[in-house]
Amino acid sequence: MIGIESPDDAAVWRLSDEQAIVLTTDFFTPVVDTPYEYGAIAAANSLSDVYAMGSKPFLALNVAALPDHLPPEILSEILRGGAEKAQEAGVVVAGGHTVKDKEPKYGLVAIGFVHPQKIISKGGLKAGDVLVLTKPLGAGVTTTALKQEKAEEVHIHEAIRWMSALNKTASALAVEFGVRGGTDITGFGLLGHAAEMAEASRVSLHLEFSQIPFLNGARRYAEKGIFPGGAFDNKRHFEPFVKLSANLDEPSQMLLFDPQTSGGLLFGIGRDKLPALEARAKELQQAIWVLGEARDGKGIVVG
Ligand code: CO
Ligand code: CO
Repeated sequence: MIGIESPDDAAVWRLSDEQAIVLTTDFFTPVVDTPYEYGAIAAANSLSDVYAMGSKPFLALNVAALPDHLPPEILSEILRGGAEKAQEAGVVVAGGHTVKDKEPKYGLVAIGFVHPQKIISKGGLKAGDVLVLTKPLGAGVTTTALKQEKAEEVHIHEAIRWMSALNKTASALAVEFGVRGGTDITGFGLLGHAAEMAEASRVSLHLEFSQIPFLNGARRYAEKGIFPGGAFDNKRHFEPFVKLSANLDEPSQMLLFDPQTSGGLLFGIGRDKLPALEARAKELQQAIWVLGEARDGKGIVVG
């Protein structure tokens, strides 16, 4: 149902009228210094693509590339972080594969089920939908500041807490409200993934900068120009699709292109359902921010 021709967060294969399989993999180099947290973040990030499709993951495999000289206790901490995160998600890690590589890489192959009529995809937004985000942005600048030894401890902990949080409840919330258009915010940043959704859904997205949430250190690191290379790639690639308010200064603009690791879900929901969604999110202790809305037209406008 979803594959290479219409790339989405995961591949989807129909098994029957009632059931489809959702399949995805993701792995990356360490984003933090602590192996346990790195494992947990990598696992949460891999499972996120299953959640982004409106599915629930149930089975996974470890994928790891590790240097020869890596102490075994570091490897076991990475895997323990991944295993405990999978357990929190209700996912069984049934095996995996490890190869040697100079730089460590870790993630999961993950699989879930979804009803073929209830898939959440990048192309499912409708004009009039309000846009909801479930995690703050700024993971890229904060982890880059960490790498440059310029990050404050409290900001690192905040970023780790958000990056290792599962999108499980956010996905359950979206499914409960019949959401059809959504994705998770990762390497292309908010505007990159928003641009993909706008194009796939054939709508324009109008975002209000003042409503967009950021991690507490993000603004400060952005003002110092501490951005990962990916932020500049994203800007170059997605700028043609985006109209940014002239009132936004350079750091604010760049923050919207900041690549995220294990970011939140971005999804659309009819405005009439928003009060009920907000009430339910509160009940589930799921953070949500309303960033703007989808309209007829093309591209992204940030005011
Ligand atoms: Co994704
Ligand atoms: Co992915």
